[in-house]
Amino acid sequence: MCGIVGYIGPRQAGHLLLDGLRRLEYRGYDSAGIALLNGGGLEVIKTSGKLSNLEKALVGRVPSGTLGIAHTRWATHGAPTEINAHPHTDQDGNIAVIHNGIIENATAIRTALVNIGHTFESDTDTEVLAHLIGALFQGDLEEAVAAALKEVDGAYGIAVISAQQPDVLVAARKGSPLIVGVGTDEWFVASDASPLLEHTRSVVYLDDGEMVVLTRDGYRVRDLQVTEIQKPVSQIEWDLAKIERGGFEHFMLKEIFEQPESLRNTLRGHLLDDEGTARLLGLNLTDDELKRIDRIVITACGTSWHSSLIGEYMIEELARVPVEVEYASEFRYRNPVIDERTLVIGISQSGETADTLAAIREAKARGARTLGLVNVVGSTIAREVEGGTYLHAGPEIGVASTKAFTSQIAALALFTLRLARLKDMSILQGRQFIQALRELPDKVQQILDRAPDVERLAEEFLDSSNVLYLGRGVNFPVALEGALKLKEISYIHAEGYPAAEMKHGPIALIDENMPVVFIAPKDGVHSKIVSNIEEVKARGGKVIALVNEGDAEIERLADKTFPIPDTVDLLTPILTSLPLQLFAYYVAVRRGCNVDQPRNLAKSVTVE
Ligand code: AGP
Repeated sequence: MCGIVGYIGPRQAGHLLLDGLRRLEYRGYDSAGIALLNGGGLEVIKTSGKLSNLEKALVGRVPSGTLGIAHTRWATHGAPTEINAHPHTDQDGNIAVIHNGIIENATAIRTALVNIGHTFESDTDTEVLAHLIGALFQGDLEEAVAAALKEVDGAYGIAVISAQQPDVLVAARKGSPLIVGVGTDEWFVASDASPLLEHTRSVVYLDDGEMVVLTRDGYRVRDLQVTEIQKPVSQIEWDLAKIERGGFEHFMLKEIFEQPESLRNTLRGHLLDDEGTARLLGLNLTDDELKRIDRIVITACGTSWHSSLIGEYMIEELARVPVEVEYASEFRYRNPVIDERTLVIGISQSGETADTLAAIREAKARGARTLGLVNVVGSTIAREVEGGTYLHAGPEIGVASTKAFTSQIAALALFTLRLARLKDMSILQGRQFIQALRELPDKVQQILDRAPDVERLAEEFLDSSNVLYLGRGVNFPVALEGALKLKEISYIHAEGYPAAEMKHGPIALIDENMPVVFIAPKDGVHSKIVSNIEEVKARGGKVIALVNEGDAEIERLADKTFPIPDTVDLLTPILTSLPLQLFAYYVAVRRGCNVDQPRNLAKSVTVE
């Protein structure tokens, strides 16, 4: 998520804003910039990469000025380059804008502005907004911003300054958080409280549709229709660590609870209800090229390999194209049979995993078409594949992958839908699948609302030394993922297995000390899983079962059950993985483990 900080007051703003950006680094970003009014006009400096690059660019030349804005950018549209970094300026270079969010009608506005002679440097929607404000500016920045925002669709948190009004900072919010810091004869605006704490704990929280006008005499909150709004001043009680985690104890828990929103962002703009299909413009594969693909290989590592397995079930079930899932570390050294009708999909949250990158390069060298399902915009894998789609899950800071996993499944569902509708899936089936996808975020929220039940469950099993996770069909990969989550953050040994495979060995492990987690929604293999549960119970095993509401048959058998809302079979992993993420988290926290940075692990394995 982008970071915003702005200042107006008696002090020099340059270093103060840079300090503010440092406080915002935790949000994840790939470029940064600053704009100041230095008495002689507007000065904008921005760089790609880390904040240190901006600081280097500013050595010995931090612009003077007591009014400024600064930004860290997490790229969503447009690569993380200097040109795309914020602040962006209007056509005349007199107005600077920083922005967090997505302007959905930016293309239409850009076209209209080009038609009246505007020229653009970047690929960003933010530059369009800067030009729109400039085009509407008639000497009053506040009114120009209000007029521009009335024409904008989408989400924004913005801060704007103008060389023609060197004593005004205008900010506005719709969908992206923005708060005002109330100091002593100085005022701030920021994406969250972290840059403000060293200056003030008195803040005003803006709500959607509100603007704030900061001057050297104070601030005024209003809506887009000029109506002034009285807002209470609140005191920040949190410390910096708690603010960075949005009030959650750990980044991992924050990211688990972000999943309703991250799923909406993954799906946003891709679902075409009328045609019953998905729009994936970034594939760079025509429908005819997609139809000619006769085999798909999905390659990844770790959690991303688990979502790949779910993709195999989806694509083969709905699009009827053969799929193989390969560990990237194995694929890259095998002698795989690949030709131009093979599509190789690389899945990676970071887009930098060395094995996955090498596997993609090997596939390309052998003539395969390649796609990437990647979270980090502009990452190496995203740049080396021929096409793909970004997850838009937002930065994932916790080493254990959670929201990226469910967003990968959602992205695979979009690809499957696109491909299936080119094959035998009917428009009605496509619409039903779309409806099921649209309902997922709210169903995820229902599960999150019951997190305390999972926490109580974790209390009972936190002293286990081994745990077995069993699932069938599309929930077999969820068993693998649940086991990985537990072992990588709590250091309890755990294994995931296809439920029927238990009889071929692991059943020897079952005794009263072995908790067995069954992922058992009412799908096509429900009766088989009931038999597997009975086999475990007969040997004294403790059974925890994820079940659909009202599954009396398993509720009678299992020692503990946790309810999962209904959805179509192929999408159940997005729901069944949630309680397993929470279970691993609560067990690890109670065992005193470092949940966000587990021992021996890195967030991105960029070496072999
Ligand atoms: C998952 O919790 C782990 N952190 C790890 O398995 C991870 O999924 C794997 O290293 C792949 O990373 P990537 O998705 O960034 O390629």
